[in-house]
Amino acid sequence: MPSIDETIQLIRIGERPGNVTSGSSTCSSDLAAGPWELDEAKPGYGPGASMADVLPAGSPVQGVLPQEYRGLSREELDLRIRAAKHALGEKLLILGHYYQRDEVIRYADFVGDSFQLAQASRTRPKAEAMVFCGVHFMAETADMLSRPDQAVILPNLAAGCSMADMADVDTVTDCWEDLHALFGEAPDASGRVPVIPVTYMNSSAALKAFCGKHGGIVCTSSNASAVLDWAFERGQRVLFFPDQHLGRNTGKAMGIPLEQMVVWNPNEPLGGSSEETLKNARILLWHGYCSVHKRFTVEQVQLARMRHPGVRVIVHPESPMEVVDAADEAGSTDFIRKKVEAAEPGSIFAIGTEINMVQRLADQHPEHTIFCLDSVICPCSSMYRIHPSYLLWVLEALERGEVLNRIVVPEEIAIPARVALERMLSVKPR
Ligand code: 13P
Ligand code: SF4
Repeated sequence: MPSIDETIQLIRIGERPGNVTSGSSTCSSDLAAGPWELDEAKPGYGPGASMADVLPAGSPVQGVLPQEYRGLSREELDLRIRAAKHALGEKLLILGHYYQRDEVIRYADFVGDSFQLAQASRTRPKAEAMVFCGVHFMAETADMLSRPDQAVILPNLAAGCSMADMADVDTVTDCWEDLHALFGEAPDASGRVPVIPVTYMNSSAALKAFCGKHGGIVCTSSNASAVLDWAFERGQRVLFFPDQHLGRNTGKAMGIPLEQMVVWNPNEPLGGSSEETLKNARILLWHGYCSVHKRFTVEQVQLARMRHPGVRVIVHPESPMEVVDAADEAGSTDFIRKKVEAAEPGSIFAIGTEINMVQRLADQHPEHTIFCLDSVICPCSSMYRIHPSYLLWVLEALERGEVLNRIVVPEEIAIPARVALERMLSVKPR
């Protein structure tokens, strides 16, 4: 089967039907271009599912990729990446998130979800450099959890996460002050403070530090309910950011009524709710979302069930609540992988998560029928900024002893952020 990247190229030249160029408001023909064309000319997340999201001012900008790395043939890229990997040996660790394109993931020494990648970054003592094929917040976390002498490198600095960028520390601090003005700071009779901040891993190091400083914690999609249990043991309410869907889906699965989960819109006074509503709330949900998972709909679930009797629908919990409700199961990327691996041969899966991961599962499991709930080939635009050319560029620099695109979180942020991360790592998954 062609990879997603190859399919996009085929659609572009008209050799395969598809709607990269039409039929979708968020996918464009620019997908087939080399990301270096975007680094210089088009600020924004680039083509793909998050292209319509607003890139905040001050986002990291990728510098010019040297001409010699542009438009190399696949064979040359492969030869040179393998040669650089071989030369660097155990000094190099390449980490890859499931959503990376196959053309990158084939070089990864470790592939995982964001939680596993965070753990992997602290358990490779021999690695002097970790090249993180994922997005910015993941590289920041790896930097904070690894030793100071280990360099974490993000091959393309424009690989951010539009959802992570929907909450920034100043706006969250304003919200926190409003909540403290409303609830005070005194604990209740059982010692629980009025609000505990919980940030999804998909957030800046500054927000993780905010949680560390204010008695809060980090969660990922694989441990969100255990983390919320932790938070409710210590607080009457949770302020959950940036992903409203993960917060709502997790809270609902824990039995929290919908009316006690209230969206906080920072552009409105008191987040858009009355004092009464906020006082009754158990979870305050920041109004962020993932543009990749927002694409999944109940209609797609119904269509999959109609066309494929017996289909199992599994979605990532960043999907809207109605979609999670309509699906058979919801869980992190690694949860989805494990479900597919454990299934009886001949199973049919409709999966609601990033297309590169779904296609890879389909390729690795020809014994099953596996397809993406959304038929439009539309990758996560920020993950897609990592192209093998950038990987080669940073690897050949490392071979020369040059560290490019190093991600360094200043210690004044890293120290409190580690507190929140360590709290998460100490929570036992349910
Ligand atoms: P996981 O935590 O499942 O790896 O997901 C990360 C992510 O960015 C999902 O959109
Ligand atoms: Fe961020 Fe969504 Fe991409 Fe995950 S899939 S990195 S949440 S934009």
